[in-house]
Amino acid sequence: MAAQRKQQVILLLLVILLAAEVVSCQLKAGCPGKCGSLSIPYPFGTRQGCYLDESFLITCQDNSTSSIPLLGKSNVSVVDISLQDGKMRIATSVAYDCYNETGFLVSHKYPWFDLPHFSDSSTRNWV
Ligand SMILES: *[C@@H]1O[C@H](CO)[C@@H](O)[C@H](O)[C@H]1NC(C)=O
Ligand SMILES: *[C@@H]1O[C@H](CO)[C@@H](O)[C@H](O)[C@H]1NC(C)=O
Ligand SMILES: *[C@@H]1O[C@H](CO)[C@@H](O)[C@H](O)[C@H]1NC(C)=O
Repeated sequence: MAAQRKQQVILLLLVILLAAEVVSCQLKAGCPGKCGSLSIPYPFGTRQGCYLDESFLITCQDNSTSSIPLLGKSNVSVVDISLQDGKMRIATSVAYDCYNETGFLVSHKYPWFDLPHFSDSSTRNWV
């Protein structure tokens, strides 16, 4: 039997919001302020007219049972947005390598993502 250990832990990352001009945390009229439990303050928004520019798009992936906020058109989910701190927390899967008893790599996952408009927090991400 292959001794596989799979981890489906969530990796949390903090990214710094670099929107210097952003001061308002008000909601634009007619714009959804939430996706699931995530509050979505302007400059973020779920559709055109609601966000400042496309880098602040939150795609709300809904079905009858859940609503998952995703960053832009990615599959990176957004956990928390704090304009006060200038921080956003995002979640993605943890990478893994699984070996069987004789040391052969039997499965792996190397998730990756690209955040061109945000930088990561060097003080609030750690391994
Ligand atoms: C709704 O989406 C969630 C997350 O993507 C998924 O786990 C669940 O099975 C979906 N439910 C339905 C009814 O499609
Ligand atoms: C581990 O995987 C290798 C390659 O698939 C296979 O040859 C070997 O028999 C496996 N070992 C065990 C203990 O399952
Ligand atoms: C997003 O999807 C791509 C393509 O399916 C995949 O390679 C990547 O690992 C996924 N990223 C996350 C964070 O799940």
